[in-house]
Amino acid sequence: PKQEEKSWYKGHELAMKMYHHLLVSSPEGKKAREYLRGRGFTKEVIDRFQIGYAPDSWNFLTDFLTKRGLDPKEMSTCGLLAARESDGKQFDRFRDRIMFPIWDKRGNVIAFGGRVLDPENKPKYLNSPESEVFNKGSLLYHFHGARPSMKRKNEAVLFEGYVDVISAYRAGIEHGVGALGTALSDEQARMLRRNADKVILCYDGDNAGQTASWKNAEILMNAGLEVYISVLPDGQDPDDYIQQYGTERFADNIIGRPKTLMEFKSGFLRRDKDMSLEADQLRYAEEMLIEIGKLPKALERDHYLKQLEEEFSLSYEVLKQEMKEHVQNNV
Ligand code: UTP
Ligand code: MN
Ligand code: MN
Ligand code: MN
Ligand code: MN
Repeated sequence: PKQEEKSWYKGHELAMKMYHHLLVSSPEGKKAREYLRGRGFTKEVIDRFQIGYAPDSWNFLTDFLTKRGLDPKEMSTCGLLAARESDGKQFDRFRDRIMFPIWDKRGNVIAFGGRVLDPENKPKYLNSPESEVFNKGSLLYHFHGARPSMKRKNEAVLFEGYVDVISAYRAGIEHGVGALGTALSDEQARMLRRNADKVILCYDGDNAGQTASWKNAEILMNAGLEVYISVLPDGQDPDDYIQQYGTERFADNIIGRPKTLMEFKSGFLRRDKDMSLEADQLRYAEEMLIEIGKLPKALERDHYLKQLEEEFSLSYEVLKQEMKEHVQNNV
């Protein structure tokens, strides 16, 4: 890497260690320690994920990095510090927040996600701005740490939030990564594809989470991955579920029993329908045909066409014909 990049990595590394130290063993970190303990974070995950605390100060990190010989101007170029608009003077971007370091593929810390303690404060998570070294679309939270077990299991689990990745880790799900934003990029899909054949999506059990699951499932399928979806009860995210039912039940019932892509789509498409009405049945069959047409393997398409045929006593030949028309209209 360029000389400049080396100092960016060094700044982030120093900040991570300092924030972690403050969280684990300083009087200023007490409130944050108690907050995390209340949410079930163990000492083990606080260490593994190098979680920290940024104190409520405008110049704590700025002074610390300067004393360590780093140029505050460079530190604001890479987004670690912020700079005042009027005169360019640097100041601490993250104040009074729980800090989640974000690593790149090679294991360099290149960004942070900072969570408020007080739910009144906004935004809930303040993330480092994108920079030459931090491109959201080309990384996944905890990819570097999860990769060995991803390869071993030939499977990856994708979550929406930092805390979901961490709570799942406590549940023994060591091959989990976070998406950092809702829409997955093709590059992120390829990162997973290079390390596993199979991916499980485990997003929040609300409308936004399920819609994001659908979109990302397509992107992952098109990258050649076998896609499964673990659906949570409405209104819960993986961490909420673990708080309520415990780590074991999460590992066994949620991650251990995911839906296939078509089971998930079938459930999703039924949500706005009254399946006792013939009109809705036909609308459902029509929508499912479109999804069946997207499947890459002829054997799979045939399997799901037969299922539709049986469920609604429709003619296989007609279904097949119609599916083909949809596929043609799409290309
Ligand atoms: P959620 O709103 O579901 O938060 O956003 P969460 O992960 O459950 O957070 P906790 O449990 O309240 O601590 C999911 C993810 O979206 C991003 C973060 O990566 C978050 O983990 N996000 C959310 C932001 O970047 N900024 C925000 O203000 C909110
Ligand atoms: Mn430690
Ligand atoms: Mn959410
Ligand atoms: Mn959530
Ligand atoms: Mn949550």
